[in-house]
Amino acid sequence: MNIDPSSMPVRERYALLIASILPRPIAWVSTISPKGAANLAPFSFFTGISAEPMTLCFAPANNRDGSNKDTLINIRETKQFVVNLANEDNAEIMNKTSAKYPYGVSEFEKVGLTPLPSLRVRPPRVKQSPVQMECELLQIITVNEGPLGGNLVIGKVVMYHADDNIWNGGNPRHQDLKTIGRMEGIWYTRTRDVFEMPRPDAPNQPPEAEKNQ
Ligand SMILES: Cc1cc2nc3c(=O)[nH]c(=O)nc-3n(C[C@H](O)[C@H](O)[C@H](O)COP(=O)(O)O)c2cc1C
Repeated sequence: MNIDPSSMPVRERYALLIASILPRPIAWVSTISPKGAANLAPFSFFTGISAEPMTLCFAPANNRDGSNKDTLINIRETKQFVVNLANEDNAEIMNKTSAKYPYGVSEFEKVGLTPLPSLRVRPPRVKQSPVQMECELLQIITVNEGPLGGNLVIGKVVMYHADDNIWNGGNPRHQDLKTIGRMEGIWYTRTRDVFEMPRPDAPNQPPEAEKNQ
């Protein structure tokens, strides 16, 4: 099969994308409106970027009517957000926060999650998440305006929080974190079926310290 995406309806392109790029970790993003209403929603187009500075990104698409999602509206206004991690323990309640509530309605209140004050930013953290990363906005790249267009939100992590039982001296273990991944459709995966594979050596390789990237 060979297909030019421009010949496909947008919905089918979306389905193909999420069935091809997987599993995807889930950024559970809390933001706050200029009037102080907290907002929370999951985003699986999510990854880290760099350690110096410590940066990450996620991609809120536009709604079908072309409007921006509440998360993006708030980040444009306040320049701050928190990435909370979704895991096996909070999966169901995380999913509930993806329902489309009107702007200004707090998913924390609607689904019964506990907001924790952040230290460096105004949006609250999610108590029920094992890791919370407070972020300052670095950049928003809008790939396309309008229905199902996309935006990449790049943030700098200015404070990192981890539950004591997963911190492990700065080396959290996936066995403790129990993060989940989003697959195609309504499928999710656990991260329990893992295997080890050391990086290979080759002639004229850089020193060991530079290899761990
Ligand atoms: C696990 C999961 C992952 C999601 N990932 C994305 C994503 O990467 N990008 C996106 O635009 N929407 C994604 N969604 C849908 C948003 O969560 C949903 O549109 C939500 O209502 C947006 O909320 P907001 O308007 O409060 O920002 C995802 C939903 C779920 C359940």
